[in-house]
Amino acid sequence: MARTIAAPRVLNIEDLRREAQRRLPRVVFDYIDGAAERERTLAENCRAFDDVLFRPRSAVATRTCDLSTEVLGTRLDLPFMLAPVGSSRLFYQRGEEAAARAAGKAGTGYILSTLSGCRLEDVKAATTGPAWYQLYLVGGREVAMAAIARARAAGYRALVVTIDTPVAGLRERDLRNGIKELLSFNPLRMLPYVGQMLSRPRWLALYMADGGLMNFPNIVLADGPMQYADVGAALEASMVSWDDFAWIRAAWQGPIVVKGVHTADDARRAVDAGAAAVVVSNHGARQLDGVSPTIRVLPEVVAAVGRQTEVLLDGGIRCGGDIVKAICLGARAVLVGRAYAYGLGAAGEAGVARAIDILRADVVRTMKLLGCGAVSALDGSFVEPPAAWISRCESIR
Ligand SMILES: Cc1cc2nc3c(=O)[nH]c(=O)nc-3n(C[C@H](O)[C@H](O)[C@H](O)COP(=O)(O)O)c2cc1C
Repeated sequence: MARTIAAPRVLNIEDLRREAQRRLPRVVFDYIDGAAERERTLAENCRAFDDVLFRPRSAVATRTCDLSTEVLGTRLDLPFMLAPVGSSRLFYQRGEEAAARAAGKAGTGYILSTLSGCRLEDVKAATTGPAWYQLYLVGGREVAMAAIARARAAGYRALVVTIDTPVAGLRERDLRNGIKELLSFNPLRMLPYVGQMLSRPRWLALYMADGGLMNFPNIVLADGPMQYADVGAALEASMVSWDDFAWIRAAWQGPIVVKGVHTADDARRAVDAGAAAVVVSNHGARQLDGVSPTIRVLPEVVAAVGRQTEVLLDGGIRCGGDIVKAICLGARAVLVGRAYAYGLGAAGEAGVARAIDILRADVVRTMKLLGCGAVSALDGSFVEPPAAWISRCESIR
């Protein structure tokens, strides 16, 4: 019988993380949970939210809370969207469709990764909410142009260009778990690592029923969809540069979101390149270990480009309080990655819905405790960030 993910068993995102760990083979769980090198930025992305303190207004009657938010002209019922998470289909049968469906039912947006295991048309059809398409240039310009044309025809509303993957980060857990060997299709090399799969028969049964090892149906090369084993090398050969934005803009002809901004300077470059929004993101600490946590960088990016463009943030969000802090510091909305990926790994669509419910309830409770009845009314007066974060902004403005 499936384990319940309802309260009181699952009260927070950490509980969902534990449930995902129980259901998934180690190699899949660690692919979600792990990050680059010594994982210092992974820890800091989460911890740095503690440096921001709340300044509540008491004795304010806030009976209702309006969580609606407008991002790129689209109204969302929640101040958070689901970030692009590659290979979600490994976590649960037709994972990208399940996550998109849960987002739509909650009235929010889903961002589909280029490295999706499901066809982009099927994912769009699965959701009633807005969908954005995240672009890597894997396979080269022609292949990317074909995906852009498909995404536009399917009704994706924005193109998210990820700029922080000139090479794949060194994710040590993946290597220790034998990810390369498991993708080699050489039975002798695979043998020491297959026990991880066999010890999770429920996951294995669904995975096999879903077609087993998959390819990437939105990266169509001359000989067909790109295979899993080729992804590392393909990413390294597909670096995006600011010069690429001219042809990407011409091909897409819609709003472009630049994801992976770490500094005020890059935020300005993104605006110059035509970004309608930027995402302050370090790829969930999966690329360069040792960069600043995103919440620390947010005020400087808002100071630099907040008047010209919308600023979003992701990285380290594990509760609704984190979301509220980011909005108080100037984010239009946030993206959550692992928080929903754990839910997907734990229980498919129901797990993603549970993750969204947990975050939504957290945001409402936090806002009532702050004495604020609408996301649109959250501002810097509700938080106290470290003085050094703010003095850096003053030199930028
Ligand atoms: C398992 C996993 C796969 C990811 N795949 C992609 C991807 O394909 N494209 C992308 O732009 N970002 C990808 N990301 C980064 C997320 O979009 C997001 O930036 C990050 O997860 C935010 O940090 P958080 O997980 O702490 O919320 C991935 C993240 C995870 C955890």
